[in-house]
Amino acid sequence: MRPPDASPLEALAASYGRWRRSRLGRITDSLEERLIVDLVGPVEGLSVLDLGCGDGALASRFAHLGARVTGLDADSRMLTAARRRAEMEQIKLALVLGRLEALPFPDASFDRVVAVTVLCFVRDADRAVGEMARVLRPGGRVLVGELGRFSLWAAIRRIRGWLGATTWKFARFRTAGELRALVEAHGLVVHGLRGSIYYPPWERAASLLARCDPWFARWTTVGAALIAVAADKPTR
Ligand SMILES: C[S@@+](CC[C@H](N)C(=O)[O-])C[C@H]1O[C@@H](n2cnc3c(N)ncnc32)[C@H](O)[C@@H]1O
Repeated sequence: MRPPDASPLEALAASYGRWRRSRLGRITDSLEERLIVDLVGPVEGLSVLDLGCGDGALASRFAHLGARVTGLDADSRMLTAARRRAEMEQIKLALVLGRLEALPFPDASFDRVVAVTVLCFVRDADRAVGEMARVLRPGGRVLVGELGRFSLWAAIRRIRGWLGATTWKFARFRTAGELRALVEAHGLVVHGLRGSIYYPPWERAASLLARCDPWFARWTTVGAALIAVAADKPTR
């Protein structure tokens, strides 16, 4: 329960904290992280840009894996939460306020560019992916991870949006085919496309079904809460 005098940042941090402490959160985050880290590949010594970095959970994971990480978010409260995390974990994160649609970086600045559950909030996703391709160096890799359109997780958020929840009102969820088309439209070559988290957002279901996740992922991306596409920028 949020304390009555909690600041918006504290409330935000508290809600992230509750999710990460819950069994559902721990099981789900670990599957999500495994898929992303696997598709992004080794990052030691590389520069990684995490777009829509939120409270910096993924950015910190890449930092622990030896990458030089920059996190970008449009919400300064998120960047404050990410800064706190970096201090607590004693890692270095460069944190930048900005928007995916107009990235404040020169061309070919990063070896890896990741955007996880953020493109659904961006009105002009095509422009955002164009920006991701622009700041990626030739030979580098982009990863886009999104809530799968045909998943119960997305359906619940869609209903929340219809009922007036501002976060989800304009969110757009995509299929694997739509994610592939988005990256290919910018000359990126798909290296991997996979789903994860096939159980509904209930703790019991997660406990029972998480171990079947790799089996479902072999067959389909339909029903997956997270769909991730990794794509490379040709060297010429
Ligand atoms: C659901 S959170 C995801 C956070 C993190 N990527 C993760 O997977 O835990 C979405 C984040 O995207 C940020 N965001 C939304 N629209 C954005 C935009 N146009 N440019 C940059 N960040 C944006 C929000 O502020 C929020 O921190």
